[in-house]
Amino acid sequence: MIDIDNVVAGYTAEIDILRGMTLAVRPAEIVTLLGPNGCGKSTLLKTIAGYLLPRGGRVTLRGKDVSQIPVHHKIRHCSLGFVPQTENVFSALTIRENLQVGGHYMAKADCARRMEELCALYPILGRKFDARAASMSGGERQILALARALMPRPEILLLDEPSAGLSPKVLHEVFDAIVQVRDQERVTILMVEQNAMEALRISDRAYVLSMGSVALTGDAAALMRDEKVRELYLGGRAH
Ligand SMILES: Nc1ncnc2c1ncn2[C@@H]1O[C@H](COP(=O)(O)OP(=O)(O)OP(=O)(O)O)[C@@H](O)[C@H]1O
Ligand SMILES: [Mg+2]
Repeated sequence: MIDIDNVVAGYTAEIDILRGMTLAVRPAEIVTLLGPNGCGKSTLLKTIAGYLLPRGGRVTLRGKDVSQIPVHHKIRHCSLGFVPQTENVFSALTIRENLQVGGHYMAKADCARRMEELCALYPILGRKFDARAASMSGGERQILALARALMPRPEILLLDEPSAGLSPKVLHEVFDAIVQVRDQERVTILMVEQNAMEALRISDRAYVLSMGSVALTGDAAALMRDEKVRELYLGGRAH
């Protein structure tokens, strides 16, 4: 579904941030990207989404080489949804308006139907439908950001730290929302997370990145059990 083959990318001509990145996500999988601050996790998601164009290697989505396609094309034509790490909702707009932005290219009736579906999936959105996003808590905003990206029924979803800044209880709600959308809509999900153990619990597989390439990969359950992996990459013991 997502195939990243030896991708090289960076923000300036001199420095490569991604230095030959290779990974794959299969249909309806949840795959987590782990790794220290600055190792290139967000840069990889931005490159898949098309904010950055790779200078080497290939990005293939649904079997199509889309390496050189910019972001607006990918979101509209490649069935891709992206929730960036920061500024992922429009605070001054209401929940309804945020969802309408996500459904910008949809026919009006379909957009309305989809908003109803998403409000059924995530009831908090319906309860606050005409309130401004600014009045939402951090967890509620993450769910709104997720729902906005889901408006056009993407097949692929890229999530950059969906649990950032959330309390453990709300983190579980957001992760449950992610699992729900995979189970109900068969969405393929690639997400970056710092809450490694929690993320692995809902993931099928994971990649640990280091300095712009893959240091380690495996089944989430196997990675969680591996004492050495926990110590080196996942911040200690399983709990
Ligand atoms: N817009 C940008 N312009 C120039 N350099 C950038 C830009 N964004 C990120 N970088 C650099 O690219 C490198 C990787 O950043 P990236 O945001 O991908 O890291 P990350 O793994 O997502 O880290 P974090 O866990 O802190 O979110 C860093 O050295 C960073 O300084
Ligand atoms: Mg990041």
